[in-house]
Amino acid sequence: MCRIVNFNINGCNYKLPIVGGTYYEKAINISKLRENTGFITFDPGFKNTGIVKSSISFIDGEKGILLYRGYPIEQIIKKCSFIETSYLLLNGELPNTAQLKSFSERIKEFNSINKDIHQILDKSPVFYHPMEMLSSLTCILTAFITKKDGLKEKDMYIHLLAKLPILAALTYRKKIGLPPSTSDKNLYYTSNILKMFFSVPKKYYKNDPIITDALDKLLILHADHEQNCSTTTVRLLGSAHTGLFASVSAGISALWGRLHGGANQAVIEMLENILKCGGNIRKWVERAKNKKDPFRLMGFGHRIYKNFDPRAKIVKEVAENIISELEIDDPILELAKELEEIAIQDPYFMEKKLYPNIDFYSGIIYQAIGIPKEMFTVMFALGRLPGWMAHWKEVRLNREPIGRPRQIYIGYKKRNID
Ligand code: CMC
Repeated sequence: MCRIVNFNINGCNYKLPIVGGTYYEKAINISKLRENTGFITFDPGFKNTGIVKSSISFIDGEKGILLYRGYPIEQIIKKCSFIETSYLLLNGELPNTAQLKSFSERIKEFNSINKDIHQILDKSPVFYHPMEMLSSLTCILTAFITKKDGLKEKDMYIHLLAKLPILAALTYRKKIGLPPSTSDKNLYYTSNILKMFFSVPKKYYKNDPIITDALDKLLILHADHEQNCSTTTVRLLGSAHTGLFASVSAGISALWGRLHGGANQAVIEMLENILKCGGNIRKWVERAKNKKDPFRLMGFGHRIYKNFDPRAKIVKEVAENIISELEIDDPILELAKELEEIAIQDPYFMEKKLYPNIDFYSGIIYQAIGIPKEMFTVMFALGRLPGWMAHWKEVRLNREPIGRPRQIYIGYKKRNID
């Protein structure tokens, strides 16, 4: 591969270096472009802009490949737990037995929160969306933990892994009028999440291994996805030297958007609506193709995947498995499969390479587990947490410069107030 590109602007020749990665991704390094030529580049939505060299995850969108620290997602799903995956993303290598034990125990050590956080929830109106509450409470952890205890950086990651599920369970339980639950040190991470969500006073909660396994797999599938909107948000905050808790809180808010993590809630709402309106799938597919109609098929399309999203394939299998194991009769799953079948054979979706993404089937699993729609994106956030933290850590370790794009100003020229 050539190492330099030559180009010409208004008769002047310039040379720009080429940057390559482990695979075939190649980029023109324009970091000195403005200094040397006076030009900047224009790339709305960063569709062609690499903002970082990262070693955390790799996606080949054309081939449908996803690697975490080099390991294919299909192998991780079969051989690793969510906690091992979190260790891998944060530390670069899978843990050995002793490392895994100590990592898990340290998470358990930190799994309680300050009682005053309960009071913040008690004083909030119950019609909050769980994502806004999760984001706010994550940010305020800074005051309750970092400032109070003078926390070491390596402990911040463990604290957040321990505390985000507690905050998620609290926001859920408060909304449905259940008292706060406590974390159980005897349980594996994901079993503990389920117990914190669903235990009710004076009733023993028994984890179902089928449900724990399905949720653990979902958390793994969501754990990292290179420069998506929320991760880039977390990185940008990290580049400004904003603290970890506040950066993750911003990531949670970014994830909430319907075009990003909020799509999982939007998919189920769309499928329910289609069913309510008579189940005429073709009519909705036609609507999604009509540029004058704002309706889009939620759970379809991806910025990077122009082939099947490898995570969506696994999620579909997990959804089918849990529905059959729990003997649930779910018309939404049948509708989703029919919709997928029709859409992927439609010339519009084929031509634009629009396939189901991870959010298309994940909501069906959450519903089967008993998690309400408003909590779907919260579950996504619990899964994405190790990825966000790994990226924040990478920014700080690499001493990356503050993220600060430029713009093309199209407003008024200088004018005076009369
Ligand atoms: N239904 C109908 N048309 C679509 C869809 C869709 N779901 N997605 C993309 N298109 C069309 C779009 O109208 C555009 O057409 P044209 O070229 O004629 O203008 C073309 O496909 C390219 O789409 P785009 O919006 O320019 O692509 P993007 O990379 O900017 O957006 C996306 C990617 C995921 C936001 C988009 O596909 C979308 O809105 N999908 C639905 C929401 C969704 O499922 N989001 C979850 C994404 S995966 C998980 C995550 O990141 O959190």
